[in-house]
Amino acid sequence: MKVLVAIAALVTAASADCTRESLLASAQTYIDAQKAGSTTGLKLSSSFKYQQNNKERAISAGLLATPYKLDLVRSTADTVACASYTMWISASGSKPYVVGTQIRHDGNDTSTISLIDTVAATTGDLFFNASKTLGYIQKEDWTPINKTESMPSRELLKKVGDAYLDMWTDSKAADSIPWGTECERVEGSQYTSPCGQSLPHGGSSKPNGMRRYVIDEVTGSVDVLCQFDSLGTMPDSHEIRVIDGKVKYVHTITALKVG
Ligand SMILES: *[C@@H]1O[C@H](CO)[C@@H](O)[C@H](O)[C@H]1NC(C)=O
Ligand SMILES: *[C@@H]1O[C@H](CO)[C@@H](O)[C@H](O)[C@H]1NC(C)=O
Ligand SMILES: *[C@@H]1O[C@H](CO)[C@@H](O)[C@H](O)[C@H]1NC(C)=O
Repeated sequence: MKVLVAIAALVTAASADCTRESLLASAQTYIDAQKAGSTTGLKLSSSFKYQQNNKERAISAGLLATPYKLDLVRSTADTVACASYTMWISASGSKPYVVGTQIRHDGNDTSTISLIDTVAATTGDLFFNASKTLGYIQKEDWTPINKTESMPSRELLKKVGDAYLDMWTDSKAADSIPWGTECERVEGSQYTSPCGQSLPHGGSSKPNGMRRYVIDEVTGSVDVLCQFDSLGTMPDSHEIRVIDGKVKYVHTITALKVG
């Protein structure tokens, strides 16, 4: 009897769904850890890895070892990849940060975290000014899309994320993106609206590589962490929101150096 119960428990665990709620709950443990500057509340898997600015390092040697006051936090969830994306801004302290973090869970098991993958920009990084970025992003509407027909498909989100990163190497990529008329682009702290103007049309022979995706149809967003190889080897996060089939917001976080 005991054995049967144990087997039933195993089967349930193995076929567990990766839900939006459990992904966001796990992302919240990361947010709490960052506010506390302590990783003791994080449930890490036995194969856990921590990566910061595209380089693996000990979690104790990264941002989570220091408490930060978070002035803005927002998370999205990808139930197919079983991953979440959290953006946070700390503008008020002596060391300001704008951070994009993807969290991954192996085997659809959100009870533990297998990867924390962070791109972090601070003073001196590309177009960096955390309070300016905060001012722009606070005004945006990131409420979930209310109507199913306004939600972009996973395929469209992936396509838009890839086309955006391809603009530096593919002269046709910019024109393949469905720009919204009231679209806003916040690159570091640099603001452009409408966002479909002054875009690159090829010019580099090095595609932006190391792409990692978090795709969320409910908020209509894709975040791609990558290495911005077309302009150097810069660790980078590009997040794009699509509503009614058109791009509404673009955010970029770019660090100048790996590691
Ligand atoms: C995880 O769950 C998703 C959605 O329920 C499913 O599509 C996927 O195949 C599952 N992956 C694994 C490794 O079980
Ligand atoms: C950041 O931007 C704000 C608002 O535009 C400005 O007042 C401030 O001086 C800037 N900070 C730095 C370090 O450039
Ligand atoms: C969803 O509905 C609320 C309340 O009507 C509205 O304020 C919000 O802008 C809507 N969100 C989107 C993304 O359409």
